[in-house]
Amino acid sequence: MTVRRSVVVGCGGYLPEKVLTNEELAQRLDTSDEWIRERSGITQRYIAAEGELTSDLACAAARTALDAAGITPDAVDLIVVATSTPDETFPASATVVQSKVGADNAMAFDVQAVCSGFVYALATADNFVKSGQAGTALVIGAETFSRILDWQDRGTCVLFGDGAGAIVLKAEDGQGNATDRGVLSTHLHSDGRLHDLLYVDGGPSSTGEVGFLRMEGKEVFRHAVVKMADVTVEALEANGLTASDIDWFVPHQANKRIIDGTAKKLGINGDRVVVTIDRHANTSAASIPLALWVATGDARIKQGDLVLIEALGGGMTWGSGLVRW
Ligand code: COA
Repeated sequence: MTVRRSVVVGCGGYLPEKVLTNEELAQRLDTSDEWIRERSGITQRYIAAEGELTSDLACAAARTALDAAGITPDAVDLIVVATSTPDETFPASATVVQSKVGADNAMAFDVQAVCSGFVYALATADNFVKSGQAGTALVIGAETFSRILDWQDRGTCVLFGDGAGAIVLKAEDGQGNATDRGVLSTHLHSDGRLHDLLYVDGGPSSTGEVGFLRMEGKEVFRHAVVKMADVTVEALEANGLTASDIDWFVPHQANKRIIDGTAKKLGINGDRVVVTIDRHANTSAASIPLALWVATGDARIKQGDLVLIEALGGGMTWGSGLVRW
């Protein structure tokens, strides 16, 4: 039996020019390079320039991904942008990307699931492709979290950065088993009762202001360790696979200790885990596609490899996906 699969045919990314190191932060905040590195694994982050918008980052990543795929913008019929930091309250940043890259034949919308955004966007695009409603999809994670950080709050501002990553999906026929190329499955969850652990204290309908990110770091950490392990096992079991089948584990980059803890629980060796948090920090919805871009760029992830992704974010939302590259 043939099934329709969403196969990754291109991957791209973009990081702003400006690097902000831990040492620079320590000059203006009561923190230290040592504390940030030990607690999170972060040494630096990228910060978007004044006037550089989320859609600009998204477009740069999208263009690299389209180039890598050898696909022209007019062939794209779906654009999904995962972001919590859109250019404007509306319209969707995806429509801005559509116009800037010239993907005039596409439908375009945003998905908002904070740090799980890319997994949610991938699941959405995959379902559009599988149902036949789209044949070529651009899935982007793009964020300018530097704009929603309280730069006086050392418990949060040291952890995040800006960036964008993108993949191009194309419909192809598969056999319906785990040897197929493409998205094998996605698994999404949310629990709105956990709102207060990670949220932004503003918005158009509440304060009328954009607001700042607020987080109960310890509690988020506790949920992340448990939920990441559960949702990755769910993905493996759904496909009759075990951790030893995984070529590359590409987790959301929130904290090196969370990444290490999840990999250890799964029994995945560190040399099969893609880590970018040291240089990128937490770029929310952009972190997974950026890590995919880095690991395809240096030829770690190759065609045919089995890639496991997972993320947890505000909401709370969390999810995983298995993709045969
Ligand atoms: N520099 C120096 N000290 C800091 C600091 C900073 N940047 N931020 C907090 N501290 C202090 C705290 O004030 C606290 O001091 P106190 O004991 O005198 O009150 C101390 O360090 C320990 O803080 P705590 O919050 O208990 O540290 P932690 O070990 O839990 O690490 C995080 C903090 C935020 C790094 C960690 O909880 C974390 O990563 N959580 C998950 C966050 C996450 O992944 N969020 C995104 C999800 S998508």
